[in-house]
Amino acid sequence: MTAPPADVPGSQTGPRHVALIMDGNGRWAQARGLPRAIGHREGVQALKRTVQAAPELGIECLTVFGFSTENWRRPAEEVSDLMGLVRSYVASDLNRLDREGVRVRVLGRRAGLPADIRAIIERAESTTATNDRFLLQVAFNYGGRADLVDAAQAWVDRVLAGEATGPLDEAALETGLSTAGAPPVDVIVRTSGERRLSNFLLWEAAYAELVYQDVLWPDYGPEALGDAVRQYRQRDRRFGAVEVEPVLAAG
Ligand code: FPP
Repeated sequence: MTAPPADVPGSQTGPRHVALIMDGNGRWAQARGLPRAIGHREGVQALKRTVQAAPELGIECLTVFGFSTENWRRPAEEVSDLMGLVRSYVASDLNRLDREGVRVRVLGRRAGLPADIRAIIERAESTTATNDRFLLQVAFNYGGRADLVDAAQAWVDRVLAGEATGPLDEAALETGLSTAGAPPVDVIVRTSGERRLSNFLLWEAAYAELVYQDVLWPDYGPEALGDAVRQYRQRDRRFGAVEVEPVLAAG
């Protein structure tokens, strides 16, 4: 792991794992009188800049929300644009990501995605499976509730197959989540000034710090990510415990 740069102050080290809700592509385009598709295209450029900058800030894993289970409600043309961006992102960047030691993992339900997108996802994951310099998790057709349902169902299936016995506990449920094995999520960042989780990483959010930034996603990059890291390092994480004051010796 790269050591955190000295010029990012704070009492906290890390974060190791940053999750990003990349919001504001539509408003960025609208403000310029451009179609929303251009906002999403610029969003991909912002994603590339951010992935590039993350290891230099000591981050080991980025999880980004690319397409939610609710995004199917958008107009068909916009859904098709977002699928097209996955095709072009993987076509243009997979080799570079692989050379740079990035392991790509896609979270979310594969069923329901176009067959060629499923094949692209599988190629991205298998090409980079042994890389260990950095983990990029792309949530695509992902919903936190659906992921929890799938994890519970996976456990039920294991019980029915005689591979597990009850009662279900947190550790057992966690092994069925699509994020299993990734470092714990330290911070969830949402851009564009909106302040909600929108069904992202519901389980993993339990002790994550939340950082809201006003920047629209297409304007995101190393500077904004550095600012999020700075905010995180100033937080006091207690995980439900209290800080114990040192007891002064009497006399
Ligand atoms: C939110 O902006 C953004 C999305 C729904 C999609 C995020 C996708 C990208 C950045 C494209 C790259 C993704 C991959 C996986 C290659 P919005 O459209 O909701 O913005 P608005 O709230 O301003 O309308």
